[in-house]
Amino acid sequence: MQSPTTTKQSKAASAKEHPSGDRRFKTLDMTMKRYQYKPDALIEVLHKAQESFGYLEEDVLTYIARGLKLPLSKVYGTATFYHLFSLKPNGAHTCVVCLGTACYVKGSNKVAEELEKELGIKMGETTADGQISLMAARCIGACGIAPAVVFDGTVAGKQEPEMALTKVKEWEAE
Ligand code: FES
Repeated sequence: MQSPTTTKQSKAASAKEHPSGDRRFKTLDMTMKRYQYKPDALIEVLHKAQESFGYLEEDVLTYIARGLKLPLSKVYGTATFYHLFSLKPNGAHTCVVCLGTACYVKGSNKVAEELEKELGIKMGETTADGQISLMAARCIGACGIAPAVVFDGTVAGKQEPEMALTKVKEWEAE
């Protein structure tokens, strides 16, 4: 009963850099590679994705499906089944504060607190008018410019609470 060796080199064909250049996809690649792109690593990979992005939007789910060679329906089904995963928030705008170690020690918790105060919501919630969703992530791959906040998909570095507040106030004024 000799099982065939499965130590073949992973052909990481799907691990090309994401066209957006968003380094969080690189983190995701590294995670998938660590699990040798095995489909049964789906939960772990989704978990990592949620940590990196703050939530799981379709683009991310598609990327994972391709990487693990799973049907998108399977990835989507799993992401929606478990409560610990959240899909793209409902707000017209999304603000993701990185609470990873590098950002945290540089004060991202203060940024988060001020944003929660200004918006009157907690992390993971959306304002009652549906304008802004506030999310937390753990390391978005931008430690060099910590503390980092992602406003509508654009990473902004060296964020002081006032800077982040200015941005969300612009949204509130819309
Ligand atoms: S800890 Fe925030 S980008 Fe790495």
